[in-house]
Amino acid sequence: MHARITGTGSCLPPTVVSNDDLVARGVDTSDQWIVERTGIRYRHLAEDGQKTSDLALAASLKAIEAAGIEAAKIDLIILATSTPDYIFPSSACLLQSRLGIGGAAAFDVQAVCSGFAYALAIAEKFIRSGSHRCALVVGAEVFSRILDWNDRGTCVLFGDGAGAVILEASQEPGILASALHADGAQHGILEVPGNVCGGRVIGEPFVRMDGPAVFKYAVRVLAEVAQEVLDGAGMDAAALDWLVPHQANIRIIQSTAKKLGLPMEKVVTTVDRHGNTSAASIPLALDTAVRDGRIRRGDLLMLEGVGGGFTWGAVLLRF
Ligand code: UT7
Repeated sequence: MHARITGTGSCLPPTVVSNDDLVARGVDTSDQWIVERTGIRYRHLAEDGQKTSDLALAASLKAIEAAGIEAAKIDLIILATSTPDYIFPSSACLLQSRLGIGGAAAFDVQAVCSGFAYALAIAEKFIRSGSHRCALVVGAEVFSRILDWNDRGTCVLFGDGAGAVILEASQEPGILASALHADGAQHGILEVPGNVCGGRVIGEPFVRMDGPAVFKYAVRVLAEVAQEVLDGAGMDAAALDWLVPHQANIRIIQSTAKKLGLPMEKVVTTVDRHGNTSAASIPLALDTAVRDGRIRRGDLLMLEGVGGGFTWGAVLLRF
């Protein structure tokens, strides 16, 4: 039994904010710096009150429609996020309630920007074990809620959004191989070092990052994990039709493509328009390229992510 993606969907909040808009809002930066160092030109930011589960619901409904299934068929919901609606219940349970379905297993995965790669690999293992047949796998974030707008080293990088896929049991091959990794000793280079205790925020509820350290780590592990997954499937990078990487920085993406010997024409990039949407970035990029006709049925795809934890992972699949 294989696990195959049968539908994709995504959702971006309507408010688009350019680099110049950030300058106008008082961020000490420039369009030139952001474009040269990251490739980011725009990001979408959630409205006041718009929550992760709102974006997740809209993306999920599109994925369900694209797969041509009834929501009631879903027997597993895995939602990757670092910006859940509440401490509990999980945003996956809130999404399940909004979809009007009950009974299915539902839980969140916390692996920051690698969250979707983690969630997809976990869902595939549930399906291949035979315990579940139809998974809704979502990456959804309102990262703008944990940004310090006085920290120009982080606030210009991130955006909000959601992406979703339906992963179904199938006789045809879908996910071919995956690998997940973490190095908790590196937690300090990218973290939100805060918590709630006795009704008060303890520590800092904002993204803190050592950008250059994250950059170096990301470039190394993304190339390594992609090669590991290709080796596991007995395939060569030249066989890939598309690389769908986490969208953090165009220079990280270019470096990964170069190390794999892939031309940028085979790489889906949305970082210029979406910024870094953390767990949502891979499924957002995937859905964008599916809906504009670049990614077609039968294409060989490599999805890969890296983020806080430190975590990283890759999934090789036949679409
Ligand atoms: O999702 C996974 C997590 N995130 C990432 O993958 C991000 C990984 N890191 C990066 O993408 C890059 O490290 C950044 C884009 C965050 C920063 O680029 P960099 O080339 O590594 O710059 P830097 O941090 O070494 O800073 C260079 C200079 C500094 O000024 P001085 O000390 O040289 O005078 C910074 O203060 O750029 C300055 N700077 C800025 N200037 C204008 C930092 N942020 C900004 C800014 N606008 N927004």
